[in-house]
Amino acid sequence: MEVRKIGIIMNGVTGRMGTNQHLERSILALIKQGGLKVSDDLTIMPDPVLTGRNINKLKALSEKYGVEKYTTDLQSVLDDPQYEIFFDSSGTLQRKQFVEMAVKAGKAIYCEKPTAVSAKEAIYLSKLCTDAGLKNGVVQDKLWLPGLRKFSMLKEQGFFGEILSVKGDFGYWVYTGEVEDQPVQRPSWNYRNEDGGGIIIDMHCHWRYVIDNLFGEVKAVSCRAATLIDQRVDENGNPYSCTADDTAYATFELENGLHINFISSWNTRVRKDDLLSIQVDGTKGSAIIGLRKCLVQDHSITPKAVWNPDVDSPINYFDQWHEVPDSIAYDNAFKIQWEKFLRHVVLDEPFRWTLLEGAKGVQLAEESLRSHDEKRWIELTDLT
Ligand SMILES: NC(=O)c1ccc[n+]([C@@H]2O[C@H](COP(=O)([O-])OP(=O)(O)OC[C@H]3O[C@@H](n4cnc5c(N)ncnc54)[C@H](O)[C@@H]3O)[C@@H](O)[C@H]2O)c1
Repeated sequence: MEVRKIGIIMNGVTGRMGTNQHLERSILALIKQGGLKVSDDLTIMPDPVLTGRNINKLKALSEKYGVEKYTTDLQSVLDDPQYEIFFDSSGTLQRKQFVEMAVKAGKAIYCEKPTAVSAKEAIYLSKLCTDAGLKNGVVQDKLWLPGLRKFSMLKEQGFFGEILSVKGDFGYWVYTGEVEDQPVQRPSWNYRNEDGGGIIIDMHCHWRYVIDNLFGEVKAVSCRAATLIDQRVDENGNPYSCTADDTAYATFELENGLHINFISSWNTRVRKDDLLSIQVDGTKGSAIIGLRKCLVQDHSITPKAVWNPDVDSPINYFDQWHEVPDSIAYDNAFKIQWEKFLRHVVLDEPFRWTLLEGAKGVQLAEESLRSHDEKRWIELTDLT
């Protein structure tokens, strides 16, 4: 059995996503399981080096997780041919400079989303990689969440008949930081436009690939944005003005004629199955898609609903929904995509979640904001 080491530069990895999802739950989980076995003869073994600005934070991370190699000298590891992959989970506004450096060094590029805050820059980064003949990819983790996978399986089986409507509801209450015992659970840059924040640039990137892959290509958008909470307190206890949108009301029109409503909010208290809930209604059946669960109701058990607010409902409308069982063990979504990217780099297997696909997400976010500014529908241009 050959064990093929693959050097991975993990940049901006002291951040929330870099540490939790990419280092701990993907790369270290892969190492812990003995590498990625791709055949009886070959195992791919990640060999990470942690990079960032703050040597103390890197040292603490290296000690906590037992990752030997770390440096603040990014160029030195870019110059080192033992590292084939450059991964970036630094802030969105930093992405461009790092990707440019890594492209110059000829690395395969893998990035967190959004790849930029403007479609122009996102397309530029995609073109930079393809012109240099470099393999590239963007994180589109939601595609591997169990709830969405269960829905896709049922759709393939024809469970829904013709899909008539889709309603997405994403959100939860993000503490403002004003109360000591309710500390903020997200980085403060998310609420400042000048730092690459905003719920539209954050979440519409996800909605683009979720919709494109599950329901059909997005063709146009109509969106209203709002900043409902205009002051928060940051990680260091300092108040700041919120300059970015924290709520978005969007309708997406698809090439196949379907209209999808999506509400995204960081100012809503959860009373539903999960932080993301997508209701799909079809002629033969419906689904409530959550992050891990998928509940379904078949046409044959759809109850007779009668409007009468003068009495308590004789029907408990939760009763007719059934949970799709787990038929396999579902691994971490980020880890699954990492495995696909590693196979792409080492074995040349296809990988369709490229920086160009990432640019489509940035485009949807940008056009959503333009729709808000101009108070009108915006048609998306074809990036391919
Ligand atoms: N896929 C997802 O579901 C998902 C979820 C949240 C965030 N994200 C994206 O991941 C990225 C990171 O978000 P986060 O929530 O981890 O933020 P974060 O603020 O916790 O982490 C950002 C990291 O980048 C580092 N950084 C900033 N400027 C740098 C520079 N000049 N040089 C080196 N390092 C620098 C910071 O020190 C920090 O370690 C963002 O682009 C964000 O949009 C993706």
